[in-house]
Amino acid sequence: MSTVTTNLDDDDARRLPELAVWARGVRRSALQEMLTEILRPGVLSFALGLPAVELFPSAAYGEAVARVLEEDPRALQYGPPSRALKRHVVGLMERRGVECREEQVFITSGAQQGLSLVARLLLDEGSEVLTEELTYTGFLQAVEPFSPKLLTVPTDLETGIDTDAVERLLRGGARPRLIYTVPDGHNPLGVSVSREKRAHLVELARRYGVPIVEDDPYGLLSYDGPPAAPMRALDERWVFYVGSFSKILAPAVRAGWVVAPEELMPHLSIIKEASDIDTATLSQRAVARYLEDDPLDEHLTTLRREYGRRRDLLVGALRKHFPEDSRWSVPSNGVFVWAELAGGVDTQELLGRSVREEGIAFLPGGAFSADGMARATNCMRLNFSHTPPDRIEDGIARLGRLVCDASKG
Ligand SMILES: Cc1ncc(COP(=O)(O)O)c(C=O)c1O
Repeated sequence: MSTVTTNLDDDDARRLPELAVWARGVRRSALQEMLTEILRPGVLSFALGLPAVELFPSAAYGEAVARVLEEDPRALQYGPPSRALKRHVVGLMERRGVECREEQVFITSGAQQGLSLVARLLLDEGSEVLTEELTYTGFLQAVEPFSPKLLTVPTDLETGIDTDAVERLLRGGARPRLIYTVPDGHNPLGVSVSREKRAHLVELARRYGVPIVEDDPYGLLSYDGPPAAPMRALDERWVFYVGSFSKILAPAVRAGWVVAPEELMPHLSIIKEASDIDTATLSQRAVARYLEDDPLDEHLTTLRREYGRRRDLLVGALRKHFPEDSRWSVPSNGVFVWAELAGGVDTQELLGRSVREEGIAFLPGGAFSADGMARATNCMRLNFSHTPPDRIEDGIARLGRLVCDASKG
């Protein structure tokens, strides 16, 4: 019997394999840095986009899982995408005002995976990508392996993406491989864009041959009547629609979808297979079964009522407890309010104090800067879906005291 002896000194033992170029540049994001503090026990968090635990339809979903396991021996097997689930997605899209066919629906393990798959489909190393100056950080993570050149356009608390700035860039010769935006309940701004802007963006996509990636996890969470139809309703070739069950059912089902041109389904299938083979069969079938008995109408009504109430409580508390020179969005969709404080307040600094002294967490605006420029350093994103209604006012009152204090200094 031979023995292998390794004789590594400490330095050798600590060496890492050579990383891909893009991975060498990876640092913990500002957001990850903050998570340890934010997630400390006892901290009242307005920071993350979490749904309310007490509103998950756990019993109905549990029954759906049990029935699928009982009746379907293949529920724990590898399996093709669920036709039944695709049928339900077509129905959900119809509620959003979009006509599509099952053949255009691609099932994913959540919207985040939808973004990653579409990025792999459309991007080469160093491709140009267009997004707003303040954008969803998960999108940036999805495109990062391609070391993209980011083109950014301004975005506004009340009107959203500046489509005239998009037009100027395209007219000036820029040809990004995709335009990314969240048209309803924007993350992080909370804004929903007008019908006119949607039509303008679609017209630009067609004219310049640049696809739009329309990320829509919040379209069905609407509080002031139905929102405008998604851009996918206006064009079926230049809009890739990304949907999700995370916010309307539960994030842990890890199920979402992409609506894309039918010809591209084989491409998406290959990319997905390389990523995770398939969306968990049990999850797909259980979500389909849950939807079969049609409880979603009632569930969405509950979510809209409850989250709408929490939004009103949070906005009411801001009115009462934040300085008069602050402004904020009153979102008609989604789970976020964005607050802008007087110029001199640094919300990154404020977060440290807020967690330590008051046990309150939020996300500083700078965490959402698409290109790493110092932006929105006087802004904060506040989530209203997760905090129980009876704790919202007190939480915002405590945060407001610190904000007033910082505004004076
Ligand atoms: C704008 C946006 N896109 C995508 C996602 C990811 O959603 P999912 O849980 O479906 O992957 C989120 C989650 O918060 C989001 O806010």
